[in-house]
Amino acid sequence: MKVLVIGSGAREHALCRSLSLDPAVTALHCAPGNAGIAEVAELHQVDALDGAAVSALAAELGADLVVVGPEAPLVAGVADALREAGVPVFGPSKEAARLEGSKAFAKDVMAAAGVPTARSYVCTTAEEVDEALNAFGAPYVVKDDGLAAGKGVVVTDDIEAARAHSAACDRVVIEEYLDGPEVSLFAVTDGETVVPLQPAQDFKRALDGDKGPNTGGMGAYSPLPWADPKLVDDVLHSVLQPTVDEMRRRGTPFSGLLYAGLAITGRGIRVIEFNARFGDPETQVVLARLQTPLAGVLMAAATGGLAHLEPLRWSDDAAVTVVVASHNYPGTPRTGDPITGLDEVAAQDAPHAYVLHAGTRREDGTVLSAGGRVLSVTATGKDLTEARDRAYTAVARVRLDGSQHRSDIAARAAADA
Ligand code: AMP
Ligand code: GLY
Repeated sequence: MKVLVIGSGAREHALCRSLSLDPAVTALHCAPGNAGIAEVAELHQVDALDGAAVSALAAELGADLVVVGPEAPLVAGVADALREAGVPVFGPSKEAARLEGSKAFAKDVMAAAGVPTARSYVCTTAEEVDEALNAFGAPYVVKDDGLAAGKGVVVTDDIEAARAHSAACDRVVIEEYLDGPEVSLFAVTDGETVVPLQPAQDFKRALDGDKGPNTGGMGAYSPLPWADPKLVDDVLHSVLQPTVDEMRRRGTPFSGLLYAGLAITGRGIRVIEFNARFGDPETQVVLARLQTPLAGVLMAAATGGLAHLEPLRWSDDAAVTVVVASHNYPGTPRTGDPITGLDEVAAQDAPHAYVLHAGTRREDGTVLSAGGRVLSVTATGKDLTEARDRAYTAVARVRLDGSQHRSDIAARAAADA
């Protein structure tokens, strides 16, 4: 099987790594990719938001399957263009990707499907905003309605900050604050059958102790030793399957990866958000534990064959990933700095720990930082403590001037396990 992966983050590096280990994959391509992905896949330049260009590349490569990693191409309709061209694609249509692309749309689908989520108001004027903020009280949760790479959400006790964020967006969703630990649960679906993966936990805030601004995610771990063993089944039946059924009922079936961001509150499970693609950095830890070869799973989702897929096999190992970000992330990051120590990780920590690249590029043999989240150091171990130790040992070898990472990824879960 010839596979083309679209994207350039650590998530796409994790996808490419798993696909490169799958004996069914005879050729692996990625566009646009990054310096790390270049070690496992052949890179191509393409405007990932241009459906015609992506389809032309898929045709030129004779791709049997295209996997679209990030949300922006999905929301732009790249999967539709591929389907029209007759290429199997893992990723939802533009219409179905609105589950991620519009928070207001997602709320509407959840209401219709009876999926538990935070109570919310969609607001466009300052008066509506004030009314909603007062109705819920602090802490205030204000979300930009559109795509914002995980940075469009403000959770604050300061009503002026909540108003200011609302004023900076065209349309916001203001919702009830959800208390309790967060879980990311991914499911692969062909629009009908839903196959959940293993749950993970992400660390959204920039700084240790869940301080600082929201980011795209600073680290993750799986499994969740503290979670109810029935969690995956509960979420399948109360969230994932009803949502997929509702999308099909509307004539806009969702196929690809449905990501449920959940809060486990005292009153039960609530959906915080849906995403229409694999999460980053959770994918790094989920795929580190998946033993079933990946290409067949993604192909079954792309071609309507999930009902016949063998149950997924999972490693009992734990996995931890720690994101190394540029100076000033999640603000405008500093880029162009050399990254060293990557060879030392490969020589001393593999195969238990490895570096997945995000914002990197290679220039004259040197790997340079090229984005906010630069790389994601992933490690496995017999438990979270061992996986964590291995991940942080490898992080310590990576040198990037001004870089930042959290030092408490999976710390509490490892201590409590
Ligand atoms: P989202 O982009 O909707 O996932 O929001 C980003 C982050 O903001 C989430 O992972 C939560 O940490 C936080 N957040 C979002 N919605 C809520 C809510 N209703 N209550 C509490 N925290 C929230
Ligand atoms: N880790 C959060 C996300 O992928 O949206």
